[in-house]
Amino acid sequence: MTKQLQAIRGMNDILPAEAALWQRLETTVREVLAAYDYQEIRLPLVEKTELFARSIGAVTDIVEKEMYTFADRNGDSLTLRPEGTAGCVRACLEHGLLHHQTRRLWYAGPMFRYERPQKGRYRQFHQVGAEAYGMAGPDIDAELICLSARLWRRLGLSAVSLQLNTLGSSAARAAYREQLVSYFTARLNELDEDSRRRLQTNPLRILDSKNPTMQAVIAEAPALLDQLDPESLAHFEELKALLDSAGIAYQINPRLVRGLDYYCQTVFEWVTDTLGAQGAICAGGRYDGLIEELGGSATGGIGFAMGLERLVAMLAAAGQPSAELAPHAYLITVGAAAQRRGLALAEQWRDLWPELRLRLNCGGGGFKAQFRRADHSGARFALILGEEEAGSGTVAIKPLREAQAEQITLPQDQASAWLRSAALAKTP
Ligand code: HAM
Repeated sequence: MTKQLQAIRGMNDILPAEAALWQRLETTVREVLAAYDYQEIRLPLVEKTELFARSIGAVTDIVEKEMYTFADRNGDSLTLRPEGTAGCVRACLEHGLLHHQTRRLWYAGPMFRYERPQKGRYRQFHQVGAEAYGMAGPDIDAELICLSARLWRRLGLSAVSLQLNTLGSSAARAAYREQLVSYFTARLNELDEDSRRRLQTNPLRILDSKNPTMQAVIAEAPALLDQLDPESLAHFEELKALLDSAGIAYQINPRLVRGLDYYCQTVFEWVTDTLGAQGAICAGGRYDGLIEELGGSATGGIGFAMGLERLVAMLAAAGQPSAELAPHAYLITVGAAAQRRGLALAEQWRDLWPELRLRLNCGGGGFKAQFRRADHSGARFALILGEEEAGSGTVAIKPLREAQAEQITLPQDQASAWLRSAALAKTP
C-alpha cells in the first residue's frame, strides 16, 4: 500500500467543523477593528531574512532558533514570516504610508516559528495584528487596549486579564541592562544554562524565565520600573489614568519583557489561565525605534497581535455554538423531473435571498436516505420536491428541529420568502 502523507508537525488543518468558529471569530475581529477605523493591509508570507534579524533582534529566540529560513533559487536568504510587525513597517516605508501622517492598520494570516509544538503552540499559527503609527502619546496605547478589551467582550470571553509594563526609553533600558548584567553575574551559580547564555546576549529575557529554580534570583533582581526616565514614567502614568477612566483593569507586571527586541515604553499581554501553559492570547507594545531602524524617519509605533488558535480554543471551551453555519434548508428531490426542477429552483431562491444557505441533495437516493442526509446536515428545514410537487408547482417544507411543527406546502415562488422569515425568527 502507498504510504499516506501527513501534515508537517505543528502545522494544523482546520477542518470544516472548526471553521465555523474561526469564521465567527474573524468576522467579530473585523467588525471591532472597523469600529476603530483600522484598515486592512495584506502582506507577503515571505520576506528577506535580514528584515527579521534587524527588527526582532539577531539574538532573540525567534531569530536564533525558530525561523524557517531558506535560500531561494537566486541564493537570496528568505524567511517565512514569524510575525507581522516587521513586514508591516517594511511595507509602510516602501509605499510611503508614514509620511507626516498617522495610520491605523491591521493584518491577518499564518505565521511560522520552529517551536516545540504543544497545546496552543504551533509551528504554523494564525495572528490578527493591529499596528498604529505616527502617534507618540499614551492615548493611542490606551485606545488599542480598549479595542482588544472590546473584542473579548464581543466574543463573550471573560477569563482574561491584562498585564502591563513599561520598558522605558532605549537609554533607560540600556542602563538597566548593565545593572542586570552585574546583578546576575554576581549570582552566576544560581542561573540555569539558558539564563547564562542570555546573560551574554539578552539579559532582560532572564526575567521571563519560567524555570522554578530561577524564581528566587529573579524576584530579587532590580526592577526597571524603579529607574525609569521621567518622560517614560509620565507616559506610563498617563496610560494607567486613561485605562482607569475607561474602566479597564490591569495588573502591573514588572517582569513582562517580551521576546522581541523592538519594544520600548508600553508593553502588554492579555493572558488567561484557561488554556494551560500557553496563556498569552494577545500581546504587544510600543516600538518607537523600529521605523528608524528599518530606514524611515523617527515615527512612533505601537501594536499587538493575537493568536487565533488560542482564541478559538477559548471559544470552543466556552461551548459557543459552532453549528451556526448549518444550512437553513436541505432540498430533497426525488425523480428525474423533480431533480431538474430542483436545481433551477435552488438557483432562483438564492437569487431572491442571497444569504440563504441551501444544500441541494446531490447523489440521488430515495426519500428516506435524503431525509437522513437532511437531518445530518443540521438544516432547520427540509424542502421536499417529489414528482407531485414538481408537477403542481409547489414545494413541501418540513421543520426538522421542532417537535410539534407541521409540514406545510407552498407555491414554489413563495418558498424563499417564507424560509427567510422563518429562519430569521428565533430558533426554538
Ligand atoms: P508575540 O508575543 O510573539 O508578538 O505573538 C503574539 C501572539 O501570537 C501571542 O500572544 C500568541 O497568542 C500568539 N502566538 C505566538 N506564537 C505562537 C505559536 N507558536 N503558536 C500559537 N500562537 C502563537 C508578536 O508576534 C508581535 N508581532 C506582536 C506585536 C504587534 N507587537 C507590536 N505589534
